[in-house]
Amino acid sequence: MEIFRTVAELREWSRRQRKDGGNGIGPSIGLVPTMGALHAGHVSLIRASRASCRFTVLSLFVNPTQFGPKEDFARYPRAFEADCALARDAGVDALFAPSVEEMYPAGAATIVDVGDLGSRLDGQSRPGHFRGVATVVAKLLIAAEPDRAFFGQKDAAQVAVIRRMAGDLRFATEIVVCPTVRDADGLALSSRNAYLSPAARAQALVLSRAVRRAEELVAQGERRASALIAAAREVFAAEPAVRVEYAEVVDWATLEPVEIATPGTLFAVAAWVGATRLIDNAVLR
Ligand code: PAF
Repeated sequence: MEIFRTVAELREWSRRQRKDGGNGIGPSIGLVPTMGALHAGHVSLIRASRASCRFTVLSLFVNPTQFGPKEDFARYPRAFEADCALARDAGVDALFAPSVEEMYPAGAATIVDVGDLGSRLDGQSRPGHFRGVATVVAKLLIAAEPDRAFFGQKDAAQVAVIRRMAGDLRFATEIVVCPTVRDADGLALSSRNAYLSPAARAQALVLSRAVRRAEELVAQGERRASALIAAAREVFAAEPAVRVEYAEVVDWATLEPVEIATPGTLFAVAAWVGATRLIDNAVLR
């Protein structure tokens, strides 16, 4: 596995692989963008990339512009050596681990803003978050020039933002969304789960329970968003230590609330377990 620190090195590698590295059939380069602290969810993205692309590049960059001033940028888990070992074992061909200065050169002023979409769901309580995500992902796509880029459905609002950004800017990269990976008890994997004490982790299970409840109701024929939200809030009420930030039924492309769920509608929740903010969702069938 090669490790690159600069955009120029990564771009040169990517172009070389595309030119020399295969039989010319199928996508060449798959990109898995991450902020590190890798877990089985990231491994599933690497697997998906390796299954359909000849080369996989994993980026590892804790992006400061997607954190608010009072958020957890400073304490976000960083585990470079363990991440390298995991990436190598998972078959990553190249790891891109740039510095903040490399991604945001002195004086850099250009940002990518997806408009109203950026202020829905998580964007309501995290102003500027999706601007930071859209900007850094655009930079990563420009640096790696991938045929495909892989993201987890767990961050469903982020997926909507990235799809919009990639479409608006006419990136040639296909955005691939992979299913949420969960622990056996249902907790969606997240690097932030590392913040949870055993007691808090037990409380955090209420997020997946609430999502499952909405899915069960849909399976029984319920379509009204108000009923799905009320049922999910009832589940949350049984775990008073957890503070719900939102429980919403939205169109997955626009993130605008809908009254009636149809196939592909997103049911999404965010909640605070102590000082840890977690999210979960389901795409309703
Ligand atoms: O999902 C993440 O880990 C980050 O938001 C991403 C897409 C790598 C951008 O920093």
